[in-house]
Amino acid sequence: MKTIPVLDLRYKPHLPERTDYGIAIIGCGGIVNYAHLPAYRAHGLHVAGCYDIDAQAARRTAEAHGIARVYNSLDELLADPAVAICDIAVPAWNQRAIAERAVAAGKHVLCQKPLSEDLADAAAIVAAARHAGRKAAVNQQMRWSAGIAAAKDLISRGFIGQPTDAQIQVSTRTPWHMWPWLQVHPRLEVMYHSIHYLDSLRYLFGDPAWVTSRHTKYPGQQERAETRTITVLDYDSGLQALVAVNHNDSSGDTYATFRFLGTDGVIKGSIGLLYNYPHGRPDTLQCRSNVQAPEIWFDVALEGLWVPDAFIGPMASLMEAIQSDGMPLTDVNDNLGTLRLVHASYRSAAEYRSVRLEEVVA
Ligand SMILES: NC(=O)c1ccc[n+]([C@@H]2O[C@H](COP(=O)([O-])OP(=O)(O)OC[C@H]3O[C@@H](n4cnc5c(N)ncnc54)[C@H](O)[C@@H]3O)[C@@H](O)[C@H]2O)c1
Repeated sequence: MKTIPVLDLRYKPHLPERTDYGIAIIGCGGIVNYAHLPAYRAHGLHVAGCYDIDAQAARRTAEAHGIARVYNSLDELLADPAVAICDIAVPAWNQRAIAERAVAAGKHVLCQKPLSEDLADAAAIVAAARHAGRKAAVNQQMRWSAGIAAAKDLISRGFIGQPTDAQIQVSTRTPWHMWPWLQVHPRLEVMYHSIHYLDSLRYLFGDPAWVTSRHTKYPGQQERAETRTITVLDYDSGLQALVAVNHNDSSGDTYATFRFLGTDGVIKGSIGLLYNYPHGRPDTLQCRSNVQAPEIWFDVALEGLWVPDAFIGPMASLMEAIQSDGMPLTDVNDNLGTLRLVHASYRSAAEYRSVRLEEVVA
């Protein structure tokens, strides 16, 4: 009888030895309440306090999550010696000023994505953190979503051989009204959504040489900017990646899938979060390797949701970097690469041409 090999996938977020750092939340809006804080509570992290320019939002958040201290100002928060890490979740255009003050006050920072909409501002955050000798990471938590983390593990182990084709295809109906400020924003889909896919592709395959994008809207849409985009990444190795996203699908036949093909095998699966946002379902994954386990299709039951479970990943990685004096996986400097891809996509779409990534400098 043929024995089916066990696929021992390593995809769950790893917590470092020390996790008792005091965390202060800056910006107590939607994502903090339904993602950051539930993930931290599930892993017993210590949230020392929270602050928001909207004092009511800070008080509501403190009450809902049992946070002991509400700060009256950013200065008060930064002066608190119990705070080691500032977890910033404010609109991107307010992030630089807060991050610069936080690292100057000796705090490590976890920033939200996008690190900034402006490359020079993002580079300034990197420089400020380096100058202050503090660790700074970005909340690109899709890298820790089960499907992407499992794919990373398989690809690193040579399961599919040399990657040749990558596709992330999403056709869904996104409730943009949950973010009224995004509805009126001049840049939408790539800057605020596909940025996760571009960051995940960089994590799996590195930086492409060329970026080609087309952006469009949907008839009668309320949002000001693009809600449908197609981006093609060409790599020097010959790898081609496609990110195709439509946020206006009311067909009842929506999907959110990934497929990574290599010379020796394939990995494919679904992004569970987008099947019923923001509740979601677990990611799925099937894979096959012609060399490591010929003719066997593995159908893996993955655990954990992108929201909130993956949100422990960036914070855990930041804590690991603090205690090992290493680099968080989504270090701000690495994130400049993701932002360059985002900007290359907008340039390509605006100028109706392919853009060499090296054209876009921070
Ligand atoms: N990583 C992800 O998957 C993910 C998902 C959703 C949102 N986000 C990002 O998180 C950030 C916040 O998004 P949200 O949906 O929670 O928005 P939100 O509008 O619900 O909350 C933002 C909060 O920040 C506060 N704020 C604004 N400026 C501030 C300042 N200078 N100091 C203190 N507080 C300030 C606001 O009062 C508000 O309470 C955005 O940058 C967004 O892109 C990331």
